[in-house]
Formats: sequence, C-alpha cells, structure tokens
Amino acid sequence: MTTPTTTLRGGDELPMVGLGTWNIEGEDLRNSLRAGLDAGYTHVDTAEGYRNEATIGEVLAEESVDREDLFLTSKVLPKNLGYESVIQSCKESLEKLGTDYLDLYLIHWPNPAISVRETLSAMAHLKREGLVRNVGVSNFDTYQLSAALHVSPVDISVNQIEFHPWLQRPDLVDFCREHDVAVEAAAPLGRTELFADEVLQELADDYGRSVPQIALRWAVERGVTVLPKSTSPEHVRANLDLFEWSIDEADLERIDALDRGEAVYDDRVRGWEGDVYGISE
Ligand SMILES: NC(=O)c1ccc[n+]([C@@H]2O[C@H](COP(=O)([O-])OP(=O)(O)OC[C@H]3O[C@@H](n4cnc5c(N)ncnc54)[C@H](OP(=O)(O)O)[C@@H]3O)[C@@H](O)[C@H]2O)c1
Repeated sequence: MTTPTTTLRGGDELPMVGLGTWNIEGEDLRNSLRAGLDAGYTHVDTAEGYRNEATIGEVLAEESVDREDLFLTSKVLPKNLGYESVIQSCKESLEKLGTDYLDLYLIHWPNPAISVRETLSAMAHLKREGLVRNVGVSNFDTYQLSAALHVSPVDISVNQIEFHPWLQRPDLVDFCREHDVAVEAAAPLGRTELFADEVLQELADDYGRSVPQIALRWAVERGVTVLPKSTSPEHVRANLDLFEWSIDEADLERIDALDRGEAVYDDRVRGWEGDVYGISE
C-alpha cells in the first residue's frame, strides 16, 4: 500500500512516514535503510550533524534507488547558518549523499547568534540553483517561526519538531497549519519513553497492534508526518505497516488527551558551550 502524502506549499508531495536516522551508523544503518527501502519507505531523514550521510549515499547507490522516487531531507547545523556556510554545508551533504538535489533542506535548530534572514537568503539561493527543492526549519517555536516567516525570501514548507502523544504542542501545530507549514514529528515514539503509557498499551491490545504503531498512526491521522528510527529491520517494517487498519475517532481522542507537555529531547534549555553553535568561548 502506498504511503499517504502531505502536499507542501509549492506542490511537492511529502510521504507521511519517513525513516529517521539519528544516532545510527555503520551496519545498523545499512540494515535499517535496506529494510526500509525494501518495505517501501520513500522518505529518508538525515542531517549533517548525524555524520551518516556518506553511508546513506552508499546504500542508495548500492540499491539503485530511483532518485525521483525518494524524498530526501537533510539539515544544516546551527553553527553553519551564515550565508556561505549554508551553501558549503549543502554541497557537502549532496556530495556525501551522492545526489544533486535535496527534496528538503532544514535549519536543524535556531541559532540566536546568526540572523535567520541571512540563513534563509542562502536557502533561497540554494533553491534557485536547484540544489534543494523545499526549504524548512526544525525545532522552531511559534515566535521563532513567526519571525522567520516575516523575513524569509523563500517559502518555509516544514517545521520538524518533537511531537508525540506526550508532547502535542497544539498552539505551535495550529500556527504551522495556519501558515501552511507542514509539521514533521521528530522522535515520534518519544525515544521509547511513551511505551510505558497505559492508555497506549490498552489501545495496542484492543487493535492487535504495537504501541509504536498506535502512536504513529495517531500522528498521521492528526496530519503530522512521522520519522521513526529503528536499528531493527522488523521494527522498521512494522513502523510503515500503518495503513491497512485504522483507529476509531473516539480512540484518537483518548490519545489527544494524553498530552503532558513533556519533551524527551527538546527541553528548550540550550547550552552555548558546545561546538554546534560555533559561539563557545
Ligand atoms: N530535528 C531534530 O532535531 C530531531 C530530533 C530528534 C529526532 N529527529 C528525527 O526523528 C527521528 C526519530 O527520532 P529518534 O530517533 O530520536 O527517536 P524515536 O524514533 O522516537 O525512537 C527511536 C527508538 O524507538 C525504538 N523503536 C522504533 N520502532 C520500534 C518498534 N516498532 N517497536 C519497538 N521499539 C521501536 C528504537 O529502538 P530499536 O532500534 O530497538 O527499534 C529506538 O530506541 C530521528 O532519527 C531523526 O531522523 C530529529
């Protein structure tokens, strides 16, 4: 069964399940990606910060993936948000991935030390040159996204944010929707933390599915694209097996009620001492 898509402003179709690749490399990554491609994934999410683009490029070449059939996303690190650095980072990502364009290029997370207007101008240049087809942001809150939308010379098509039953961020998701910015769920399984949720476990039993499948299907029903990551080929397959069954609206609403405003990674408290911002002393 084909994966449902969201139409991005500009018209491209974003497959609503993508393969996450954070913190996975070597043979685990190769096996995960091969299993995903075999199972029918047409969307892969990576980043320069994941340091795995070269391995992904190798597997895509080995598997002779038809580039036009794949939606490929990468991200530029906060320390590389200056105009020339964005362009340099993008070219390096393309080289490693073995492709001449990205379907989506994201600002990985905001850097208050570098003008977002400057970053988005570089993104606009990349789009004009055909190196990226769509531009977006990640880990932007409503205020940051609002500012970016005000100054951007290029459409912002996506905001990739932490999103799962325990962190539903209704105000931010509504804001994205009002501005035609598609929402992608990073850590859609809450990095396994939400597997302990009793309501999700009960629903999994009722539907004869796993808790991850319930969480992923719910997100897609709520219009959010999911990017589950797994080192297990079996889990990779299960995470795409979401569309030959459905969850009743009353049960979707039970999941809506699980929001705790609880983040597993995006706690908004940023340390400036690390290398990723390029502003440590
Ligand atoms: N933009 C950002 O800043 C950002 C931040 C976080 C994540 N992301 C993106 O979102 C992707 C997903 O997030 P994530 O990797 O942090 O976490 P996640 O997908 O929420 O959770 C991954 C964990 O879930 C387990 N898992 C996956 N499928 C399973 C299944 N069917 N049954 C049981 N366990 C399962 C995996 O273990 P096994 O390996 O054992 O299956 C792994 O421990 C990332 O890889 C990345 O692409 C982006």
